Formats: sequence, structure tokens, C-alpha cells
Amino acid sequence: MNNKKQLQRMFTFIDESPTCFHAVANLENMLDKEGFVKLDEKEVWKIENGGKYYVNRNGSSLIAFVLPGKKPSGFHMTAAHSDSPCFKLKEAPEIVVDDAYLKLNVEKYGGMIMSTWLDRPLSIAGRVVIKNENGFESRLVNLDKDSAIIPNLAIHMNRDANKGVEYNPQIDMEPLIGEGASKDEYLRLLAKEADVSQEDILGFDLFLYNRDKCRLIGIDDAYIAGPRLDDLECAFATMTALVNGKPDKYINLCAIFDNEEVGSRTKQGADSTFLQDVLRRICLKMGIDEEGYRCMLADSFLISADNAHALHPNHQEKADVTNKPVLNGGIVIKYHGSQRYATDAYSAAYMKDVCNRAGVPYQSYANRSDIAGGSTLGNILTSQVSVNMVDIGLPQLAMHSAMETAGAKDAAYLLEALRAFYR
Ligand code: CO
Repeated sequence: MNNKKQLQRMFTFIDESPTCFHAVANLENMLDKEGFVKLDEKEVWKIENGGKYYVNRNGSSLIAFVLPGKKPSGFHMTAAHSDSPCFKLKEAPEIVVDDAYLKLNVEKYGGMIMSTWLDRPLSIAGRVVIKNENGFESRLVNLDKDSAIIPNLAIHMNRDANKGVEYNPQIDMEPLIGEGASKDEYLRLLAKEADVSQEDILGFDLFLYNRDKCRLIGIDDAYIAGPRLDDLECAFATMTALVNGKPDKYINLCAIFDNEEVGSRTKQGADSTFLQDVLRRICLKMGIDEEGYRCMLADSFLISADNAHALHPNHQEKADVTNKPVLNGGIVIKYHGSQRYATDAYSAAYMKDVCNRAGVPYQSYANRSDIAGGSTLGNILTSQVSVNMVDIGLPQLAMHSAMETAGAKDAAYLLEALRAFYR
């Protein structure tokens, strides 16, 4: 594989996916080009052995699958998430300050490092919902212009700025988007993007995003810096591997979920029925009865891929004593005694074997025993679809910063391992 070319494809995908809605649309484009057939949850499905299909829910979660030519014995699945922590515009967001400034009322989506959103060019993207003859329709919008900034308070007005600052999301994080008189201009731009008139927009899910592009960084180009690496790196790798794979005994499937950053408990999140609904519908269509479905689940495996914390060069004391992955050290297998990660001895062995077959390195992550870590998709998915499962990820620094850092080699390792999994 040409690593440079592959990395460039991933960079383009992340750059062009400022929100979960754009990420799913871009993945669907990738699937369309590979001859996948789009299914609609509202319609009766027509699927056949050897076919390739995908279905989305809410335009922000996506499941794609490839059926083998013969009767399958189970599912080989991967999962990642489409959303990233950011700021979401509230309803009626415009605030005019002193007749001079136009700023926006926003709220936190997920747990970001707030300070990293200050003093950098931002823009606005997401979806708007309009009403047409057939009902309601969702359209993607992206102002795709340096259109907002959240200015810091000057050091002269906050002498303690370098001693640890507490940010209030209702006060400190409201982006300035223009002069007070430009209120209509902002709405007009959004409507123009959606190709409708302002009055037609009845609802919206709009977010601020960092305008920075993904790039190589380091004197030896060893690293990647970019926004939304958690978890668009894994979303790109899992879907690319699915597209490259050829199923034999198993149904190959890749699920990308929205709302991981806010707990997954939405109709399209990992804690929804989305995956289970898709698996059951596939079985129904293939003439597999209820017991056959259970037998298949018992012979299935799921790789949950969500980025992991690498050893921080300035804060080695934050890492576990023996399980401290580094950038470019390979795929991270995550372990947690209380099972916040789904990995167990069996699934770890399975994953190590996948890496060995692909010839890629792997490393292990555990929280320090005195630090509570974050959560991920694996153990939430287990409550909906209980199959053998491993939690893995790519090592990265500054998770949930507006600009994250990862290893340039690791992305290729993940793709190679997942290709081996789907073979
Ligand atoms: Co994540």
C-alpha cells in the first residue's frame, strides 16, 4: 500500500467532514463509487447473496455490509463514531452586542478542551431541515469560509491567564461572527448554502468547526495534526477496509455511530437498536430463522475502533506503569478491569492474531488505577448486540482538542489489520 497516498485520502476525508452529517455523506459517496446499493429503513429491502449494501439513520449514523456468496456463519463487524466534541448553535442564536457586534449563542456538544477553540478561525456547518411537497427534507450546509472566532480576553484584563483559567461556556465561548448590522447576512448565507429562502428553514443542527486542515508534522513527518482525528481516523479506516474486503464465511459489516461524545443514547447512537435492527433484517431476508440468528451472533466478532491516549511526552506520570502506548507504536488494544472496554482474554487473543496475520505492531492501553478514563462504543454496543468484542484505537495526544496529534504510521497499520480481519 502507498502510505502517502492513503494518508492524503484520509486527510481529504477529514477536511471535508466538518460535522457527523458530512462524514456520513462522504462515506456514502465512497460506497456509491464501489457499487454499494443504498437501502432505506422505511422500505422493504431487496438483498441477495454476494451483494453490497448500506443504510443510514438520521443522516449521521451509517451501517454498510457485504454478503458472502454462500450461507453465512456469522458477522465480522467493525464500529467507529462520526461525531466529535464541538460547539452547537442554539435555537435563535443571534446576539447583538452594543449595536456593534454580532455573536452566536452556543452550547457544548461533548467534552472538549475549551481553550483550544479560542483565537482560531472557525466556520459553521451542519444540516437544515426544510418542508417541501413530499414532507420534510434535510440539507447539508457548510459556510466553508473563515466566518467566526472566539477571542481570548487580553492578558491585561486577565493577569492570571497563564495560571489555569476556568472557562464558562455561556460567557467565554460565544463566537463573534460579524458586525451588528450583518444579522440578515448570516441567515442569508446559510439559506443560500441550502439553496432555499430563509423562511423555508424550519429546523437546524449547526456546529462550529475548526478551519484547520490535517497535515503531517514533525521534522521527520512522523506525526499527523488535525481536527476530529477522534474518531474520523477510525471511521475512515473501518469503512475503507470493508470496501477492500471480500467475505467468505462471514457477513462483513461496518457501523459508524453518531452521538458517542454525548453518551450514545439517541435513536442513531451505539445504544440504539440500529445495529440490531440491521442484523435481524439481513437474517430475515436471507431466510435465517430466530435460532439461526442466535447461532450467528454466537459465531460473530466486533472490533470497536475509537482512538486511545498515547504516552504524553510532558506528562509521563499520567500514563499507566506498564500499558503506555506511543505514537507510531501500532494499534492500541484497550483493557479495563471493570469492563468499560469490552476486551477480554479471548477477544485480545483474536485481535493480536489479526495484527500478526497483517504484520502490524500492536500495543496495550490501561488507565492508571487511580485515574478514571473515558468511555467508548464497545461496552455500550454489547448491551444491544452481545457478541465477542474488542476495544481498540489509534494512539493520539490531546484527545478532544480542536487540533489533535496522532502517528502517521498508525493509520496505515489499522487499515492493514482491518483488511486482514475482513479477509
Ligand atoms: Co472517540
